[in-house]
Amino acid sequence: MGKYLISGGKKLCGEISVESAKNSVLPILAASTLTDEKVVIKCCPKIADVISLINILNSLGVETAFENENLIINSSGMNNYTIPERLSKELRASVFMLGALISRFKKAEISFPGGCNIGKRPIDLHLKSLKEMGVNSYIDNGFVKCSAEKILAKKITLSYPSVGATENLMLSAVLADGKTEIRNCAREPEIVDLMRFLNTMGAKIYGGGTSTILIDGVKKLHGTVYQPMSDRIEAGTFLIATAITGGELQLNNCNAKNICTLIHKLCDNTCKIAVKNDIIYMRSNGRGKSFNLHTGPYPDFPTDLQSQMAVLASVASGSSTITENVFERRFAYVDELNKMGADIRVKGRTAYVNGVLQLTGTKVRALDLRGGAALIIAGLNAEGITQVSGAEHILRGYLDLDKKFRSLGADIKLIDGD
Ligand code: EPZ
Repeated sequence: MGKYLISGGKKLCGEISVESAKNSVLPILAASTLTDEKVVIKCCPKIADVISLINILNSLGVETAFENENLIINSSGMNNYTIPERLSKELRASVFMLGALISRFKKAEISFPGGCNIGKRPIDLHLKSLKEMGVNSYIDNGFVKCSAEKILAKKITLSYPSVGATENLMLSAVLADGKTEIRNCAREPEIVDLMRFLNTMGAKIYGGGTSTILIDGVKKLHGTVYQPMSDRIEAGTFLIATAITGGELQLNNCNAKNICTLIHKLCDNTCKIAVKNDIIYMRSNGRGKSFNLHTGPYPDFPTDLQSQMAVLASVASGSSTITENVFERRFAYVDELNKMGADIRVKGRTAYVNGVLQLTGTKVRALDLRGGAALIIAGLNAEGITQVSGAEHILRGYLDLDKKFRSLGADIKLIDGD
């Protein structure tokens, strides 16, 4: 529960440091259970999804402890391959445990994963490709039960470059006997980060970031100390927020290469952006021009920044279109945004946006993680007070979002209650 109260119309100015990436830390947490030696994940963000996955690891007998910002993981006592329903429903990332549990126990039992309500989010690609590796699965009373005599190193072609399925295949193949090849795999930066993490544990994985990943199975993995990549979606959320309010932003600990499609879009849209090493500087004069956007698997425009861009379009001059090609139900925020005076009509996978001069503050509800972040950004632009309830969705993926926006000059606070 909880809600954000925002008094809009203030420019954002200042600098923030970007956290470690949620969508990299989650599969890395699963991968850390593939050794009995100590694993240290540096600067591990204490966001709700990470805490939920840590709770899952604890329920499987894995010991975890935070030492300041670092998370220490010891899986030597891991003794269970069944994830209780109450835990696996909390987030999508529980599905990554499939590959790790199969690698370790040749068995896995998880109830259908939870996560944002942005589409059906089946796991057919996961199960179909795992079956090619000798993993048999069946559904029993809402539980996915998997088992394998032996994990087979194979050449597998994904019918869609699914991020989660790619990660599960990597986790299943890393200790298999032989060479596995994953074709038409996901190319997201988080895949590259998982490959780098596993390779610091002694894995032999090549090709992360391309459409084909090669995994030469090894007998054993050892412990490691690892700093995950920075969160490109958090970085993009702040850049878009500043583009909308006007102002100046310095983002530290940010790899601009991972969000170059966003940076190009913002530069085309009256923002001035400079990049030096892992720092991005941006200056915005506020109201931008209309644009057309298509999301897609990396390196196309990230679906996780789609809703935030819709807010930018809603106060731009002219009409824009936003087409969502990854998830089939990722426009739930539109009705809420229209309550604030936006003029958006959704037809199929495309949102048609007629820009208005300014949004007006009112009560709205976050229905998923990124849609909730978009409503906060809308509140920062809006005239008057905006109340964004359903804060629990946003706390899944953003650490101290209100505090960070306040440090940039926004008038925003997070309060209890719905
Ligand atoms: C990961 O989800 C991310 N989550 C998502 O971020 C992100 O939006 C998505 O990748 C795409 O980049 C995590 O990493 C925890 P997919 P994932 O498998 O793995 C369909 C956020 O806001 N599909 O690439 O679930 C699926 O329904 C979250 O941080 C199947 O049909 O994404 C979707 O339409 C949201 N069958 C499309 O593929 C399957 O077996 C992309 O899904 C698997 C996926």
